[in-house]
Amino acid sequence: MANALIVFYSLDGDVRFLARSLARELQLDSMELELVKPHPTRGFMKYFKGGFLAATGATPPLRPLAHDAGHYDLIFVGTPVWNSRPAPAVRSFLKDADLKGKRVAFFTCYGDNDVKTQKILTSLVPGAKIVGRIGFKLPLKTDKERCVSDLVRWARDLLNS
Ligand SMILES: Cc1cc2nc3c(=O)[nH]c(=O)nc-3n(C[C@H](O)[C@H](O)[C@H](O)COP(=O)(O)O)c2cc1C
Repeated sequence: MANALIVFYSLDGDVRFLARSLARELQLDSMELELVKPHPTRGFMKYFKGGFLAATGATPPLRPLAHDAGHYDLIFVGTPVWNSRPAPAVRSFLKDADLKGKRVAFFTCYGDNDVKTQKILTSLVPGAKIVGRIGFKLPLKTDKERCVSDLVRWARDLLNS
């Protein structure tokens, strides 16, 4: 089985829930991206600032990372969709990580769709081999166990291929 790392950012818990469930089920290393200046979790600024930063392609500084992605063959990257784009913290990670030659697979959580976000994610890892993409609509508000089982099956196939 491939040596894999799960990297994710989550504001409201959907991506965190999936990432932690995946790490537990498949016994994988994982790390949550944390901003030096945490994003507002409520109110007007949560959406206004989040939408603005995502649209402008901002790469806000991250707190020190728990793992070095360079040590892994396969990197699962999880992000919420913000303003049809990846969350800024994930953009920060992808800007600094050297994933050339790595196998990379993206998973998202969204309220509507992740079509544009998946395209942008692909453009942020030149030289990497994108081996998978999957998205989930608001897992914590829908059938979260079903989402976990779909995610685990998807990830297991990638690990074994
Ligand atoms: C700032 C902000 C912008 C968002 N923009 C979109 C969007 O453009 N399209 C969409 O489908 N969902 C959008 N959402 C909804 C989130 O993608 C969705 O709630 C996701 O499950 C959140 O993941 P999290 O709980 O891990 O933070 C947005 C949420 C926030 C906070």
